[in-house]
Amino acid sequence: AIDPQFHENREQVGEENGVSVWGPVDEPEELGIRGTHVAVDFDLCIADGACLEDCPVDVFEWVDTPGHPESEKKAEPTHEAQCIDCMLCVDVCPVDAIDVDAG
Ligand code: SF4
Ligand code: F3S
Repeated sequence: AIDPQFHENREQVGEENGVSVWGPVDEPEELGIRGTHVAVDFDLCIADGACLEDCPVDVFEWVDTPGHPESEKKAEPTHEAQCIDCMLCVDVCPVDAIDVDAG
């Protein structure tokens, strides 16, 4: 499962599509955690898609990740600022790849 303490345990190594990237990153096999308030561990995501389907405010967008061992696309929390902390995505992800910091 995603490390809920990733803010402390990882370093922010950059930004993609306006979303923070938390390392380590070694593309294309290792992609790190994406997002801050809504965070997705790209190295765990298997592109199940439940988060995209269920989020009531469309926080997530697919991004292509060719060459990643788990899946060739990932759910990026592109619109994490819209999140209403309903926690649906956290509940439905089959591999516990999502953390929402509801404070
Ligand atoms: Fe969407 Fe709810 Fe997840 Fe926020 S907590 S990203 S509103 S499903
Ligand atoms: Fe990935 Fe989990 Fe969403 S596997 S696509 S983060 S439901």
